[in-house]
Amino acid sequence: MGLWSRKSIALLQAEAAAEGQEVSLKRALGALNLTMLGIGAIIGAGIFVLTGTAAAQYAGPAIVLSFVLAGLGCLFAGLCYAEFAAMIPIAGSAYTYGYATLGEFVAWIIGWDLILEYLFGAATVAVGWSGYFVAFIKELGINLPTAWTQAPLNVIGTHTLVRNLMCVAPDGTAVAASNGACAAGVLTPGMINLPAMVLVGLMTTLLVIGIRESASFNNVIVFIKVAIVVLVIGFGFMYVKSGNWHPFIPPNSTGEFGRFGWSGIVTGAGVVFFAFIGFDAVSTAAQEAKNPQRDMPIGILASLAICTVLYILMALVMTGLTHYDTLNVPHPVFVAIAAAGPALAWLGVFVNIGAILGLASVVLVMLMGQPRIFYSMSRDGLLPAVFGKVHPKFRTPYVTTIVTGVVAALVAGVFPIDLLGQLVSIGTLLAFVIVCLGVMVLRYTRPNIPRPFRTPLVPIVPALGILICGFMMYGLPHDTWIRLIVWMAIGLIIYFAYSVRHSRIRQDPGLAGD
Ligand code: ALA
Repeated sequence: MGLWSRKSIALLQAEAAAEGQEVSLKRALGALNLTMLGIGAIIGAGIFVLTGTAAAQYAGPAIVLSFVLAGLGCLFAGLCYAEFAAMIPIAGSAYTYGYATLGEFVAWIIGWDLILEYLFGAATVAVGWSGYFVAFIKELGINLPTAWTQAPLNVIGTHTLVRNLMCVAPDGTAVAASNGACAAGVLTPGMINLPAMVLVGLMTTLLVIGIRESASFNNVIVFIKVAIVVLVIGFGFMYVKSGNWHPFIPPNSTGEFGRFGWSGIVTGAGVVFFAFIGFDAVSTAAQEAKNPQRDMPIGILASLAICTVLYILMALVMTGLTHYDTLNVPHPVFVAIAAAGPALAWLGVFVNIGAILGLASVVLVMLMGQPRIFYSMSRDGLLPAVFGKVHPKFRTPYVTTIVTGVVAALVAGVFPIDLLGQLVSIGTLLAFVIVCLGVMVLRYTRPNIPRPFRTPLVPIVPALGILICGFMMYGLPHDTWIRLIVWMAIGLIIYFAYSVRHSRIRQDPGLAGD
């Protein structure tokens, strides 16, 4: 038994079917709930915050094409996720798929990498939420002191100050400027981002109480946020000035890669990729799905398709309502609506509410995904057994949910959004690449396993997924790569110090696949 030992698919399927002998997760979710979970995780900071920056800095109105490109990469990866999720309906998502196909070592790498997507993703969006929330209550006359609403740290790096309002990182992510400056590496006037921490605390509590309660709460929010996005699209289209769309692809006049022109569309895709993250979170809830074989692919692909259509229309409306260079603000949807004049002023309030609620549900679903991955890793012996505990009454993985919540709250309290956001994107892209690779490997090594859902056109679809996602990774800043490597190195230390000694399939080789 070594680094490459795989977990037997028969065992995985038996684990998925095991119910009743011990306290297990509760099968409470149908196709609709799963699709709503996907949408809950997808529509958030990406569309409400990053679209404007990406349009203003990289792509202009052609940000619409950036959405198409990033959406295609996600579609190919999503089709691969769907094959695995139906075949191996076990909590743990890509980690579990990796264990069945590429071996324990790769599984650990994905599991550790997914912490970047879910735990850091929740923290990132909580920080974005805090920004919207603080601005919103300020309009209502409630001023929270800066010390309690901002992270104490700023990123050391190459930020650009925009109109004394915000600092934009090289990849386009933006944070509010502190005292009119981008004090790189200098402490900000903030002490801790308390609203972000409180949000994480509330969502964690809900998740401990129950998967059904969490899903119902998510359903309500998704309904509201999708309604608001549809309102913006519908009413916005009436006030579009088509002149704003010309030229649709602004020329790249400086020759610099990524500054408008075709290369700007590619860079823009790397930035707005963040907006698509989350459809795969559906796959972490496989063990709580009533009929995972049928409903997992529906949940993953339907949520992705719905959001892609909404994003493309939303990007068209935003760049049609106002000239793209005015969108370089932390609240671009609001600015686009305001450009339509008094007729749409009423919609502005709804946009703010949509963003605040919408971002909260992203945090919820991300905080739901992470513990389920830890749960699976613990069941496999790669993490301590206490992480696999299920609450006797609520039937949720409460220990991992609380651990995730506490760590995410701390991260959200002290780190700025841009540093977190890039790490989340690179970590997620890496997971997508490995999942696409896994589908190809398993089709070759185990062609006969029943696959309730088959990725079409293998190996073309997974190969394109690897290519587009790999390309988006390549476009991320150098610093982000270094952080990814450091993060992975920490993971390897833990793996060799703890996990190899406790791995269940190493202790009982009968559990391994052939
Ligand atoms: N897709 C999620 C968002 O945009 C992570 O907030």
